[in-house]
Amino acid sequence: MSRDTGAFDDLLQEDRRFPPPADFAATAVVDASIYRRAGDDRERYWAEWAEQLEWFEPWRRVLEWNPPYAKWFLGGKLNVSYNCLDRHLAAGRGERTALLWEGEPGDTKRYSYAELHREVCLFANALRGLGVQKGDRVTIYLPMIPEAAIAMLACTRIGAIHSVVFGGFSPESLADRNNDAESKVLVTADGGWRRGTIVPLKENADEALDASPTVESVVVVARGGDLSEQTGVTMVAGRDHWYHDLVAEADPECPAEEMDAEDTLFILYTSGTTGKPKGVVHTTGGYLTQVYATTQAVFDLHDEDVYWCTADVGWITGHSYIVYGPLANCAQVVMYEGAPDHPDRGRFWDLCERYAVTIFYTAPTAIRAFMRWGDEWPAKYDLSSLRLLGTVGEPINPEAWMWYHHVIGGGRCPIVDTWWQTETGGIMITPLPGVTETKPGTATRPFPGIEATILDDEGDETQAGYLAITEPWPSMLRTVWGDDERFKNTYWSKWENIYFAGDGAKRDGDDYFWILGRVDDVLNVAGHRIGTSEVESALVDHPAVAESAVVGKGHEIKGESIAAFVTLKEGVDGSDALVAELREHVGKKIGAIAKPEMVVLTADLPKTRSGKIMRRLLRDIAEGRAVGDTTTLADPAVVRRLQKQHEAEEG
Ligand code: WTA
Repeated sequence: MSRDTGAFDDLLQEDRRFPPPADFAATAVVDASIYRRAGDDRERYWAEWAEQLEWFEPWRRVLEWNPPYAKWFLGGKLNVSYNCLDRHLAAGRGERTALLWEGEPGDTKRYSYAELHREVCLFANALRGLGVQKGDRVTIYLPMIPEAAIAMLACTRIGAIHSVVFGGFSPESLADRNNDAESKVLVTADGGWRRGTIVPLKENADEALDASPTVESVVVVARGGDLSEQTGVTMVAGRDHWYHDLVAEADPECPAEEMDAEDTLFILYTSGTTGKPKGVVHTTGGYLTQVYATTQAVFDLHDEDVYWCTADVGWITGHSYIVYGPLANCAQVVMYEGAPDHPDRGRFWDLCERYAVTIFYTAPTAIRAFMRWGDEWPAKYDLSSLRLLGTVGEPINPEAWMWYHHVIGGGRCPIVDTWWQTETGGIMITPLPGVTETKPGTATRPFPGIEATILDDEGDETQAGYLAITEPWPSMLRTVWGDDERFKNTYWSKWENIYFAGDGAKRDGDDYFWILGRVDDVLNVAGHRIGTSEVESALVDHPAVAESAVVGKGHEIKGESIAAFVTLKEGVDGSDALVAELREHVGKKIGAIAKPEMVVLTADLPKTRSGKIMRRLLRDIAEGRAVGDTTTLADPAVVRRLQKQHEAEEG
């Protein structure tokens, strides 16, 4: 295992326990009997959740499992946008608030379910007008504005497959994703706001489009406010269309396409252990069932709740827990465009107060930043509306958990630490807030209907080892887009018919799962997944670089930061300017989130006699630790040189 588990043993000593408050438990959506129901008959249990959705045609069979291929709700026909919108209108809930949106500069919009339905139908017809048909791919590259959710729902309405690309990704990353998915249409915006500056999305898109031959049409949302006057967007005649023009001419009648339960709903690219991101494929019926069920049960969703998940729609958390899960539950959803520290460090708490947020879901990296910014920021606001807190994306250290509990939750809100992945589609390991006694730092138990365990290399159960999922689950990925082999190799080759999550985990005396982090070459930087080899490929793409090795380095706020060891080509002189240029180069190739925090120029990299780079040693050096065993090194002097150099630079 690649992580040092020493600190972790201390965690298992954690004996603070937080039972659900009695008043919370008394009104909770689910009680402990849900575990029994799921245990008695798993398929029946999932079918009961699915029955709460509306199906145009019922399924004939709940599950068909031909490892590693699962099909859920076979023969069932449904539509996701219908279930997120029309179903609620039919129930007389059209006037209920669907989205409460706030832009970073403070502009706001509110959509009722009826209004959101109308917008989705209009844009769905606009997409149809551009020739988009069932099964076609549409890339969505937008800021956190309502049109992001509208565009996603519009795709699902007509059976188009969306591929949302995070707005922070570079033109090159966008082009790679357009090409891999062979997208026909790209939906973007003139720009978006982030920390007071404009993210020039259309400009990036234009650069990407030069290398995206399959994209025939581009739809551009005018972000609005004074931003549009500042972005000099150029529209290419015949290719580019303003969103508002298309929608103005579109028909508001748009019956929802009847989709098969196993039709592809979306592709979402995520980093893996190779340089090429993989397109994780999710389908319709099982995905919607699991995100619907988990949103309701894990967030204890009641009618009066105002729900805010701070993720970006560019990540799976935004897909499942801003858009599909909450809207399928007819929730009132807050959506915020910008940064947590703009115009000041109180922005999130200001939003919580003004929208009277009751359920708040964020990442540990954000919590650690808030902690560092100081208690005075949340103290300025009335956070008494909050009743439930959640975390996702990385292990949460008990100190941050306790701070979240006391300072944000006022000591009264249960915390749900939810473990899951892009690949799992929905929450997999989590407390149920009205049922589970929590302990700071553990995601506790598998969600009812999920079978997880911890295995060693041989596939035997163990207290500490690899996290494994032993039975198929409804929202599991079905494959990697266009690459079944990679799907099999990455997730299903370690053991027979068991899903390998890529995370290390330990189990304590209460049978709670403690997630330790990735055991593969995937970093988790501020909750974002980045493959070490992606960064390495970006570095060697620079003309000055001969070779590079990238490792993760512990970071107080981000959890992990990126450290790059780089050997330059013969005759190239290292300099601070070159280091800065290399960082920029990675930013340009992948996106700002992948820029290495530390770049060490070195004449050699430590390698084994068989030529394998010894990353463990590099991690030790990056973190300033005593260097471990070097006996298998081809040239131990390399490490000594590197260490000396690093000490000199740090000192
Ligand atoms: C990590 C995000 C510990 C884990 C939904 C996983 C977590 C990766 C937790 C997936 C948690 C996510 N505790 N670690 N509660 N939640 N992770 O695909 O390493 O962006 O494999 O999905 O984040 O990241 P992804």
